Amino acid sequence: MAKIKCGVVGVGNCFSGLYQGLQYYKEHPEKEVIGLMHQDMAGYKTRDIEFVSAFDVAKNKVGRPLNEAAMAKPNMVDWIKLEDSSVIVQESPVLDGVGRYVEETINPIRNEPTEELKEKIKSHIKETGTEIIVSYLPVGSQKAAEFWAQMCLETGVAFVNCMPVFIASNPEWEKKFREKKIPVIGDDIKGQIGATIVHRVLTKLTQDRGAELDKTYQLNVGGNTDFQNMLERSRLESKKISKTESVQSQLKNRMDDDMIHIGPSDHVPFLHNTKICFIYMEGRQWADVPYKIDLKLDVDDKANSAGIVVDAVRAAKIALDRGYGGAIESASAYLMKHPPMQMSDPEAKAALEYFIMGKEQKIGK
Ligand SMILES: NC(=O)c1ccc[n+]([C@@H]2O[C@H](COP(=O)([O-])OP(=O)(O)OC[C@H]3O[C@@H](n4cnc5c(N)ncnc54)[C@H](O)[C@@H]3O)[C@@H](O)[C@H]2O)c1
Repeated sequence: MAKIKCGVVGVGNCFSGLYQGLQYYKEHPEKEVIGLMHQDMAGYKTRDIEFVSAFDVAKNKVGRPLNEAAMAKPNMVDWIKLEDSSVIVQESPVLDGVGRYVEETINPIRNEPTEELKEKIKSHIKETGTEIIVSYLPVGSQKAAEFWAQMCLETGVAFVNCMPVFIASNPEWEKKFREKKIPVIGDDIKGQIGATIVHRVLTKLTQDRGAELDKTYQLNVGGNTDFQNMLERSRLESKKISKTESVQSQLKNRMDDDMIHIGPSDHVPFLHNTKICFIYMEGRQWADVPYKIDLKLDVDDKANSAGIVVDAVRAAKIALDRGYGGAIESASAYLMKHPPMQMSDPEAKAALEYFIMGKEQKIGK
């Protein structure tokens, strides 16, 4: 029996990495899970997470069993052979989910009107007993993200928002979740050893050591649909804010906007799911003598976020069990790039430990 029944919106590469990892750990119970927090979080283990519903728009994913959809193109994660699943991927409204550069690759269905889909989606969520929706919608899907936040509000399902449209960190949306006593954790998932966390930690280091940071950039390239989609600059506004604020929040004094540049930079198809990140930092120490940090990070983008999502899902389940509603501040601060309240990573970790123990102060309480 699944202890945590999840649904996913966006059966893309991130989900495929999470799903394959969940099966990998089920097949190897002797292995310690390489995740962020505890093997056992308030009684919940990684193997307690099960995906009982899934939603997408791609012609080659909708109507297919979840294991097949997770491996369908343009997904590229191919770590293990997935076992058969009885979960059939349901249709989600396309809205603004599919950008100009990925339209041909994704090939979306545009069949049913949104209003009709809405009723079907709500019934499906109820029938499957879905209690947490994990959103992996593409960058720039403002309307689709809001549609799914609304679906959670109308069905009483918790929301884990892994993408950079602001829901948990938007006071109006947060209030709606709080008033309905539904937990929301967001926004924009961090990586285990990702560009944001490395950049944040180094930035905090300069501050803790009393140095000045005068200029910094973070450039990222990758070869999957996430990067292909981000070629459309107009879809990037909230992603840039999310990534930039995550670093700015670690500084004692904000840097001028023209001294900090953070953003995805290009799509290099042969990189597939490898993400290359270049971080540059320049500042001054004692007697204004300069220092420079020039760093290159080379990671599998999809292995990077899955362990964090496992913790976010378990935190959402703990919140449901305890009847908490609204943004779960500590989990959002530790696990997400753009939470309602930024903290340093050690502070956020300590706050999340308190939350797991049942001691968190909540927004509005
Ligand atoms: N480490 C990471 O990879 C990481 C970190 C932080 C945030 N994110 C974010 O997670 C999200 C997912 O990334 P990905 O690499 O899996 O992307 P992806 O392009 O591989 O997958 C997106 C999926 O969403 C589907 N989709 C598009 N419109 C939809 C709609 N309206 N309704 C339902 N499904 C829809 C697509 O068909 C596709 O299956 C992105 O927003 C990305 O920026 C990823």
